Amino acid sequence: MSEDRFAALDTRLFEFVPSSTTDDDRRSLLALHDSIAARGEFSYLEIGSHLGGSLQPALVDPRCVRVVSIDPRPQAQPDDRPHLGEVAYTGNSTARMLENLRGVPGADLSKLETVEESTENLEPDAFAPPDFCFIDGEHTNQAALRDARFCRAVMRGVGVIAFHDSYAVEEGVLTFLRETPRPHRAYSLRSSVLVVELGVERSPLDNPRVRGQLYRVRRSLAANRVGCDTALLRISMLARRARERRRSA
Ligand SMILES: C[S@@+](CC[C@H](N)C(=O)[O-])C[C@H]1O[C@@H](n2cnc3c(N)ncnc32)[C@H](O)[C@@H]1O
Repeated sequence: MSEDRFAALDTRLFEFVPSSTTDDDRRSLLALHDSIAARGEFSYLEIGSHLGGSLQPALVDPRCVRVVSIDPRPQAQPDDRPHLGEVAYTGNSTARMLENLRGVPGADLSKLETVEESTENLEPDAFAPPDFCFIDGEHTNQAALRDARFCRAVMRGVGVIAFHDSYAVEEGVLTFLRETPRPHRAYSLRSSVLVVELGVERSPLDNPRVRGQLYRVRRSLAANRVGCDTALLRISMLARRARERRRSA
């Protein structure tokens, strides 16, 4: 039964199409998916899909009724990580992704809408509000901030946003958090998923599988209880940078 596989954080739900996520990222995404699906039917919007790997769970779960993939399909993209600079995406196309996804057992492609555009050229009101957004497009702070603003608008201010490779775009995420009115919660899940909840009544943190993926569990839960989620993320980022500087000195 597919629902049990989500609750078990079965990473084989990602097995048919390559994804740039780690096993721990996959468990975190499945835990979020499980917590959101427990409330009833939901919809998923993804920014940056490449080969389609991270779309697989949403496409096979009948509780997810609508899936949107936004990706303008560049052949190369800038990346704020200094060791990367520009990353090649040779042969990047929606057609190739769809071909890959047709091979996923149980995937319902009739609920998938693909959009070959960048969010700056899209009108949020043209989309039905998704419950869960995954941001994994261009890995620059500017693009992450732009995509997060798009998600906030398209969700009409209520929903869950997960950023992949969050350490690469954390300045963009922090700017987003600072400008976003409360209530919101923000926390990091292993290995690189940063979650921002906007105005949701039932937090994914109530789900033990989501809590199980948390970094710094007690500190994270306490920071979100007293509303200093942004400060904790800033401190964690500065501590990590100091560690990196020490290592490279
Ligand atoms: C890291 S890959 C996504 C991997 C995918 N989420 C997975 O795990 O299977 C990054 C994707 O971002 C897309 N991309 C580049 N610029 C973008 C933009 N401005 N908006 C949305 N997606 C973009 C690229 O085409 C590429 O497919």
